[in-house]
Amino acid sequence: MKSFHIITFGCQMNEHDSERMSGLLEQEGLCAVDTPDAAEVIILNTCSIREKAEQKFYSELGRLTRMRDLSGKKVAIAVAGCIAQQEGRKILARVPSVDMILGPSDIARLPGMIKRSSSTGGPEIATEGDSDYHVSSLPAARSDRIKAWVSIMYGCDNFCTYCVVPYLRGRERSRPSADIVQEVRELAGRGYREVTLLGQNVNSYGKGGAAGDCFPDLLRKLNDVSGIERIRFVTSHPKDLSDDLIQAFRDLPKVCESMHLPVQHGSDKVLMTMNRKYTIAEYRDKVRKLRDAVPDMVLTTDIIVGFPGEHEEDFEQTLHLLGEMRYDNIFAFKYSQRPGTAALKLAGHIPEAVKEDRLDKVFEVQKPITLERNNRHKGTVQEILVEGKSKRGGKLTGRTRGNKIVNVAGPDSLVGSLAKVRITSAGPNSLGGELCE
Ligand code: SAH
Ligand code: SF4
Ligand code: F3S
Repeated sequence: MKSFHIITFGCQMNEHDSERMSGLLEQEGLCAVDTPDAAEVIILNTCSIREKAEQKFYSELGRLTRMRDLSGKKVAIAVAGCIAQQEGRKILARVPSVDMILGPSDIARLPGMIKRSSSTGGPEIATEGDSDYHVSSLPAARSDRIKAWVSIMYGCDNFCTYCVVPYLRGRERSRPSADIVQEVRELAGRGYREVTLLGQNVNSYGKGGAAGDCFPDLLRKLNDVSGIERIRFVTSHPKDLSDDLIQAFRDLPKVCESMHLPVQHGSDKVLMTMNRKYTIAEYRDKVRKLRDAVPDMVLTTDIIVGFPGEHEEDFEQTLHLLGEMRYDNIFAFKYSQRPGTAALKLAGHIPEAVKEDRLDKVFEVQKPITLERNNRHKGTVQEILVEGKSKRGGKLTGRTRGNKIVNVAGPDSLVGSLAKVRITSAGPNSLGGELCE
């Protein structure tokens, strides 16, 4: 087996796990190819967060196994990620020709599994989780040359009642801070300018003390790494947004003014049944402190509509909250029933049509707010990190410190550097501007 292709579903953590599987396989002498039909090993890195993600994976798996059977070629198919963890061997009952199944904390086993499966022909399964996974430094073949994802913790202890992640990614484990600082130094040495720290709940990083630092301390250390210009992180849980973190935002020049702070719902009653561990009053108070400390803060959030027991008046509190918070952008989802989660047993599941209607209303309320928040940038000068060429129009594209996309005409030589841009236009998804002299 010499060539491989990875198809990734799901969150940034999965994207980064795919980069690490690539890194591991390249270290073993395999080479990545651009399409599945050119590969001898096809890896599907799966997501189980909502039913739709699961359906997408099974239809892709069906398509690939049919393609392989028609071609008659010897191709191994591996299922990795969250559905692999959730279903394990049960995937074989549905699709018997799958060759490998491996969970998110077992990715270091992939090269060995490929070797064994090609010699024995039998299915290889690893979902028990490597207990040293969080202290191992795996190589990563990163697709970007300027921005890098860096995992700082794995798993989640929060058990929000709708969510499968704690069951699939295991307990919260923080990587040792010295390893993270070392990785970021190496990235800086290889020319990376921006790092995004990844975890399900990054602001509880270091809980328990074994990692050596708490999250604001880790940020302070990373702020000192020369060569790195920008530091971002996802995702933050409102309950763990401390005053110390707000101060770090204010005081550390490399920590960018953008925060994804999922609120999920506008009603205290629903937040309670979701097990989110904060009230709207507490959330509001934290956002106020954050905006007082950092007035340019770009704030985004996640919203769930149609959670069990969500009455019309509860839902209206979500709409009201959007009007009050004026998020720069939101990600909104219909509640989706997930296996093994506590919310399955709650009373008052909501019909699909009602969920759809509520989701439409959420977007209707948010749309003008997003535009208004983008319009605020017009006439200002923003620092952008130039990332490359935009898909259409051949302009340069980059992001502001607040993480908004900016398209601007300019020379290719600027790619990878910081530039000052005067913002002249704003749309729903991006800003336009001109380079300042
Ligand atoms: N750890 C992060 C991200 C979790 S997954 C956090 O706590 O915010 C990303 C988003 O998916 C969640 O914020 C939530 O809005 C949504 N989500 C998770 N489970 C869901 C479900 N069962 N149905 C609908 N949306 C869900
Ligand atoms: Fe899921 Fe909640 Fe953990 Fe986020 S904090 S991963 S929503 S359980
Ligand atoms: Fe999906 Fe697993 Fe991420 S369920 S959202 S890939 S943690």
